[in-house]
Amino acid sequence: MKKIRIGLIGLGNIGTGVYEILTRKARFLEKKTGAALELRYACDQRISQRGRLKIPRKIFVRNPRMVLKDPSVDIVIELIGGIKTARTVILEALRSRKHVVTANKALLAECGPEIFRTAVRLGREIFFEASVGGGIPIIKTLRESFAANRITAIHSIINGTCNYILTRMSKDRLSFDEALRQAQEKGYAEADPTLDISGADAAHKITILAMLAFEGLVPFSAVSMEGITGITSDDITFAHEFGYVIKLLAIAKKTDRGIEARVQPTLLPAGHILANVDDSFNGILLHGDEVGDSLLYGRGAGRRPTASAVVSDVIDLARLITAGQRAPKLPVSRSLKVKNLSAIESRYYLRFTAVDRPGVLSRISSVLARQGISISDVIQKERRAGKIVPLILLTHHSREDKIRRSLKLLNKLSVVRARTQVIRIED
Ligand code: HSE
Repeated sequence: MKKIRIGLIGLGNIGTGVYEILTRKARFLEKKTGAALELRYACDQRISQRGRLKIPRKIFVRNPRMVLKDPSVDIVIELIGGIKTARTVILEALRSRKHVVTANKALLAECGPEIFRTAVRLGREIFFEASVGGGIPIIKTLRESFAANRITAIHSIINGTCNYILTRMSKDRLSFDEALRQAQEKGYAEADPTLDISGADAAHKITILAMLAFEGLVPFSAVSMEGITGITSDDITFAHEFGYVIKLLAIAKKTDRGIEARVQPTLLPAGHILANVDDSFNGILLHGDEVGDSLLYGRGAGRRPTASAVVSDVIDLARLITAGQRAPKLPVSRSLKVKNLSAIESRYYLRFTAVDRPGVLSRISSVLARQGISISDVIQKERRAGKIVPLILLTHHSREDKIRRSLKLLNKLSVVRARTQVIRIED
């Protein structure tokens, strides 16, 4: 039986899960793969990880170079995270003629062109199922299962932390701060939650999905992102009254004038299939020209689901190596143009903080009308003559630049007393 030698670099949360599966299920994996998966190295800077995981002395190393310079290693699993060291390790592994498995979405989004092109140029494979959607097999689905389709759109909930926070705000009427604290207590949110709540984590992931869906490299810097820190309990309540829920969506669409790729808090109709993807779950809705709509749902994070995806990649790779075959080619030969956010079209939720006085609504609507923006729905929650009240308008489809131009004018009106809240609507 062919032996495939593996070097596992990084024994943090996911690395620990991978180590456990590879050791606990060795026989099971061997039967599935038709090859013996030998964990040749388990590498971590922290010596304490050896004792904690009871790793045999002969396979534990602290320096990744030990793994990279060993010509007998076939597959390097990079689970260090972060950009700098991980980038060096992956590029070195590829140059040393090793195949790579990684979960590192930040690196693949920000340095994707360099890494994917290096892999293709050197004829090595790079597998990254765990980089998006944790245990959900979205990468293989796009690379293989939907190969007969032109993908036209992806609407996705791919950050479990934000989804948990918004779900608790919606169902338990918690404030953003209370829901964030609860997410941290439950281990969903990091002590420093910035990467998640700013939308950056979801932006990394949609960059990778858009590359596979639309078959070209996507410049991460062109993907726009907006997080959930500005969403208030009031917005969630008003959205409900209009029949919507608020979710952080990562969206990628193919249009005639380039692709759209963005992360944004979004009003979704309560009956939308993604509206009930709650708590820390992820949901990815794809539209293919042949298959139509297809939803993938599951655990988008956590040690075991993510380790499950890493080990599935190892099995796939081991099978390919054993059979002398290659994976579907990565789309590195062209770069996609991402449409500027100002050129997108959407419906909008606008929450004004306005004085309750005759004529205010008509002043606001006349500014919108001058930009050709049509209103589809209005609510004013309270009646407090002369006092400040929330006034909520939903618009029909409009271009983003027209909305921005109107808001610049509207926010200057004396009757508008705070910056207007703007949230896009997807129907
Ligand atoms: N922090 C991510 C999330 C999981 O909350 O979904 C890792 O990608």
